[in-house]
Amino acid sequence: MGSQPITVITGASRGLGRAAASHLATVEGHLVVATARKPADLEALRARLALTGHSLACQPLDVTDDHSVAALAMWLAERFGRVNVLINNAGVSLDHYSTSLLELPFETLRTTLETNLFGVLRVTQALAPLLRASRAGRVVNLASGMGQLADMASGVPAYRISKTALNAVTRILAAEMADSGVKVNSVCPGWCRTDLGGLDAPRSPEQGIDTVVWLATLPEAGPSGGFFRDRQPIPW
Ligand SMILES: NC(=O)c1ccc[n+]([C@@H]2O[C@H](COP(=O)([O-])OP(=O)(O)OC[C@H]3O[C@@H](n4cnc5c(N)ncnc54)[C@H](OP(=O)(O)O)[C@@H]3O)[C@@H](O)[C@H]2O)c1
Repeated sequence: MGSQPITVITGASRGLGRAAASHLATVEGHLVVATARKPADLEALRARLALTGHSLACQPLDVTDDHSVAALAMWLAERFGRVNVLINNAGVSLDHYSTSLLELPFETLRTTLETNLFGVLRVTQALAPLLRASRAGRVVNLASGMGQLADMASGVPAYRISKTALNAVTRILAAEMADSGVKVNSVCPGWCRTDLGGLDAPRSPEQGIDTVVWLATLPEAGPSGGFFRDRQPIPW
């Protein structure tokens, strides 16, 4: 294990999380802990990486479940005693462009926030001691241009609100964790072809994770508390 970075990715079963797990394990040489609600969903990726001699640690994780998050934190503490990178990728989009905020069922908003906001916070709180222990932790939050106040519009209101709130979490955590060398940033991956993004999106998942990987591997002089797309700062 040595000094190999330990990278935890939530929602690695498909889409951007799977692409990030693959890239960080094969290109960046990280020890990737890929997590999924159903670990069986990680088997195809693990088998594909094994063909080229790369390994993947697979663990169950539902970000909405306290016990699941605590179990992962305990497993990581016992096995590694640190986490270098946390990629808060798991996310849901449960409403639509046609959904009006004025008619939005509170249950849709609650369920969206449970994963996209509370889920991120639950996992980050549990892993914070391990990120601090690495002395140079990196937290990457998968936000979205849909959450930008500077460009706010109607449509998908629950998703938008969850991502705006997530950006606030990024700013607060960056301030709170600055003294322990942990950098916390938000990323908009652009519109990507995943189950969430749909088939018409212009970017592949591999293109979408470029800035995710960049933020996950930031040097000590790198930024914290920022919001980035294509490796450039974008308005909140
Ligand atoms: N695609 C885009 O265009 C785009 C643009 C901007 C931002 N983003 C953000 O990027 C992130 C990844 O999106 P994606 O496009 O890759 O979406 P996706 O293909 O729908 O994948 C979402 C992932 O999140 C996981 N997940 C959902 N709820 C979970 C929970 N409670 N616990 C653990 N994992 C959970 C899913 O796991 P299961 O397989 O178990 O459901 C899946 O692995 C999201 O946060 C999204 O908001 C995406």
